[in-house]
Amino acid sequence: MNVLGIDIGGSGIKGAIVNTETGELLSERHRFPTPKPSTPRAIAETISMLSSHFSYTGIIGCGFPALIKNGFIKTAANIHQSWIEVDAARLFKEATSQNVFILNDADAAGLAEVQFGAGKGKMGTIILITVGTGIGTALFTQGKLLPNTELGHIKMYGKSAEKYCSDLVREKKDLSWMDWGKRFNEYLNYIEFLFSPELFIIGGGVSKKFDLYSQFLHCEAEIVPASLRNQAGIIGAARFAAISQD
Ligand code: BGC
Repeated sequence: MNVLGIDIGGSGIKGAIVNTETGELLSERHRFPTPKPSTPRAIAETISMLSSHFSYTGIIGCGFPALIKNGFIKTAANIHQSWIEVDAARLFKEATSQNVFILNDADAAGLAEVQFGAGKGKMGTIILITVGTGIGTALFTQGKLLPNTELGHIKMYGKSAEKYCSDLVREKKDLSWMDWGKRFNEYLNYIEFLFSPELFIIGGGVSKKFDLYSQFLHCEAEIVPASLRNQAGIIGAARFAAISQD
């Protein structure tokens, strides 16, 4: 099935048409900057612009950077506070006149990586960690997703882990890859202590720079970069819509 997948991030809102059986992109990826402030109305307009850009009709899958329950937004760590308790599935349906299926952005990236990417064919416990403005996580065991794990918010040194070792923190504090890598390794060790996964997949912006910090990461689990890179969120969102519709 061919589905429009959308990935809403802190800096960009990206979409493409995806073949949900193979994970292939059937169109160019199109990106709009995330509106500032990132209010429900402003983001809904951008989603509508993306759908129009592709002249698309059909179901839409959308990854969103928050805890999601039945299409409702429950948290707002890196988006406008007015999102809390908004029925995003309904709002985006009104904006695009299409049925929209919403899930957490890291869960979307995880679905794609486990189905088509770095986690393909692997069993056991797999944790995908997306590192960007915030930190998002997706936890799979025996191929099944436990949604909304939000492990970017476990506490380290009294605050959310994402405030200690996200990519934004690296940029803001001008940390070297070694200094950031050591911080991120502490985080990985903490997650490993809690869940003993077989595999960590590192996604988000830092996945492209894996060679610059991988020597500072030491875990029992295997650690690999996401193989679908910044397309994973789009592919997983489209796949989620296709599976949810069946
Ligand atoms: C949000 C998560 C999201 C992650 C990555 C965090 O701040 O709480 O829901 O997955 O950022 O975007």
